[in-house]
This record gives sequence, structure tokens and C-alpha cells, in this order.
Amino acid sequence: MAALLCGGSALRGADADGKEIFRHDTFGDERFWTDTLKMHEVIAKAVDPTTALSVGLKVDADALPPGILKTADLKSPATTVALLKLNAVVGLKGTVESKDGKDTLTKVGVTCALCHSTVDDSVMPGIGKRLDGWPNRTLNPGAIIALSPAVDDAKKKVYQSWGAGKYDPRFNQDGKNGPVLIPPAYGLAKSKMATYTGDGDISYWNNYVAVTQMGGQGAFKEPRLGIDVPSPGPDLVHPKLPALKAYQHSIPAPKPKAGSFDAAAAKRGREVFTGAAKCSSCHGGDAFTDDKLHDPKETGMDATYAMRSASKKYRATPLGGLWQRPPYFHDGSAASLDAVVDHYAKVLKLTLSAEQRKDLVEYLKSI
Ligand code: HEC
Ligand code: HEC
Repeated sequence: MAALLCGGSALRGADADGKEIFRHDTFGDERFWTDTLKMHEVIAKAVDPTTALSVGLKVDADALPPGILKTADLKSPATTVALLKLNAVVGLKGTVESKDGKDTLTKVGVTCALCHSTVDDSVMPGIGKRLDGWPNRTLNPGAIIALSPAVDDAKKKVYQSWGAGKYDPRFNQDGKNGPVLIPPAYGLAKSKMATYTGDGDISYWNNYVAVTQMGGQGAFKEPRLGIDVPSPGPDLVHPKLPALKAYQHSIPAPKPKAGSFDAAAAKRGREVFTGAAKCSSCHGGDAFTDDKLHDPKETGMDATYAMRSASKKYRATPLGGLWQRPPYFHDGSAASLDAVVDHYAKVLKLTLSAEQRKDLVEYLKSI
């Protein structure tokens, strides 16, 4: 049944349930987004669809009745409420109560899809078919949270400083400000460690985020960072972690379009990757990661974010789907794949000809 609800997907069992959880489950986080942040009031009063799209929120075209966009007033917050009633805003879940022909948004919560899904823009920019696992690099989570009347001015300043595509999943724990790029949740099946700093496996992190960031109802404990959040009621997170992991692991890294890279150069670049540039010593195997932790100095990374984590190091990032998600590195410090190669050439003291660098970049575009 779950598979049927997911639009005829071939998924069955745990990963089909996981898809539903990934897209639509709030783990009871309305207690944070509604009770604490009052985002339901902010949305109903001030967030028309044009504003919502401008902060990077996406609309799932498959959830829209035909023709609705032709007549909808994209400058009215009531349209946003109508979209939430249709369950059409990716990563936001609204509860809408209808009385005497009037719709009222009574609750709102967020799901994993908010940050880790986007759409293919097939209807218009921001509106199209869902692309689960793709990082939403136009989403501005800080700007959204800063809309809440419950956030004080000092914190607002911090949230507003993050910008699109970035989020700091540790700010509300350690009070330090240093956002990281929202990473993909695809291409991770063969990788044992999750996150930039490899603090744990994928379920460890899903648990961390659902409880400490989304505000879901569940427990999370991390003695290495002195975090111990007990569940305020029945744990709505833990029972869902296996299915959630199965779904994320079922999402492959997206392949680049034919013609988006020079195939002959990419073939030569593969030799550079495994040979002269020594990339595969850390980014080896199908997952393009050695699943090891590296001292920030080893690859010339800024150590600040690592020092805030449990591991204090950086994991070699799985590289599949690189073409899809510039910029690169946890802090976005490399704007392009050329910049990535330049960075490594300098830090690892590689002697690469201009041709080799070009071929290597074409290879990186192809994986
Ligand atoms: C507000 C935005 C946001 C939400 C909501 C969110 N994440 Fe994330 N997610 C991030 C950021 C930022 C990171 C990077 C943190 C790091 O690596 O230190 C991350 C990291 C991850 C990773 C690690 C990827 C890798 O390369 O190993 C996975 C997997 C993931 N999130 C899945 C989820 C799931 C599942 C949920 C729902 C339970 C979720 N996220 C909710 C922003 C978000
Ligand atoms: C000593 C191990 C090591 C070597 C050698 C290495 N990398 Fe990395 N790579 C890492 C680590 C660790 C990260 C995570 C750094 C961060 O996010 O700040 C990373 C991140 C990356 C990223 C960013 C991925 C993303 O989604 O942001 C790219 C691209 C990359 N490496 C490509 C390469 C290439 C190309 C080479 C060879 C020239 C190479 N790496 C050599 C360890 C290594």
C-alpha cells in the first residue's frame, strides 16, 4: 500500500516506508515550529508563494490539481495555506482546519525533504517534480527561521548571516556560528560514515537532526559533545530510523547528462584521479570514499567546523553526483571543480600539467 501511495514507485517494504518518512514525517516537530517558533502564524500572515519561492522553498507539481497555477494568486498568503493543505510544499507539513468555508493553518512542521530535496523546475523555477536526496542549495533556512517572532535580535543576526544553501546544525548546541553547505542524501549506500566529520553512521545523524535540529519528539545522546536530550513522550524518531536509512541508501547519485562533459578527456582524467593526483587514495572504491577520518591539515581544510564535532576530523566525501552541486567542501570554499583541483594541487604539492588538470576536472564532472 505504501508503495502505491508513492506514485507507482518500484520501491517495496522498508525503503518505500522510508520515502514516506523522508518526505512527509515531522516526528512531531510541530511542537518546535508551531508551539515555539509560531511559524504557522508567520506563514498565514506574511508568506505568499512568491516570498516562499524566493527563500528557496519548492512546490511539488505532482500534488497540484491541473490548472491551479493559472488562477492562483501568488501574492496572497492564503495561496500558501492552500498549497500546504494540498501537501504541495516540499519539506513543510501544514495542518489546515476548515470552518464555515474558511481555511486556517493551525500547525506547521518540517521534514527531511526541506533541506535534502529539490524539484526539477519543469513547471517554473521552484515548481516541478521532486528530486529526493538532492541538496536544496537555494533554500535559505536561516532566513526562514529568522522570520519567527520568538527569535531574539542577536540570534536573528546569526540566522540571517548564513545565506542560501547553508545551515549550521550545531549552532543551537554550542552557540558558535559557522554554517556548512547542505550536503546530498544520495549516493551514500556504500559509505559507512555520515556527515562531513563522520561523527557516526547515517542513523546516528538522522537521529541527531530529527531531535536536536527539527525538534522532533525523540531521544538523542552524544557523550562526546555532552548532549543528552531525553524524549518528552513516546519516541517518534527511533522506530523510523531503519526505514529512513533504507530509503536514503536506495537513492543513487544522479548521473550527468550526456554531452555535459568531454568523454574522451574524462577517460584520461580517470587515470589522473587514480594516478598522478592520488585522489583515489582517499576517494577510492564505488563510493569514492575510504570511509576514514582525516586531520584537517592533511587536505588543507579549515579546522573550525571539525573542532566543533565529535570526531574533530573530516571524512573523505563520497563524490558521486559532483556535477550537480557546486560549490564544494564543507564550507563551500571551492566555487568550482577547477578550484577543487587547484586547491589539491597546492596542498598536496602535485605536479600536474594544465592538460592533466583539465582532464581531471572533466572526469569529476562525469561521476
Ligand atoms: C535545516 C536543514 C536540514 C534538515 C531539515 C535536515 N538536514 Fe540533513 N543535513 C543538513 C546539513 C547542513 C548537513 C551537514 C552536516 C554535517 O555534515 O556536519 C546534513 C547532513 C545530512 C546527512 C549526511 C550526508 C553525508 O554526506 O554523509 C544526511 C544523510 C542527512 N543530513 C539526512 C537527513 C535526514 C534523513 C533528515 C530528516 C531526519 C535531515 N537530514 C534533515 C541539513 C538538514
Ligand atoms: C588525504 C585524503 C584526500 C585526498 C588525497 C583527496 N581528498 Fe578530496 N576530500 C577529502 C576530505 C577529508 C574531504 C572533505 C573536506 C571538506 O569537506 O572540507 C574531501 C572533499 C573533496 C571534495 C568535495 C566534495 C563535496 O561534495 O563538497 C572533492 C570534489 C574532492 N575531495 C576531490 C578530490 C580530488 C579531485 C582529489 C585529488 C586531486 C582529492 N579529493 C584528494 C580527502 C581527500
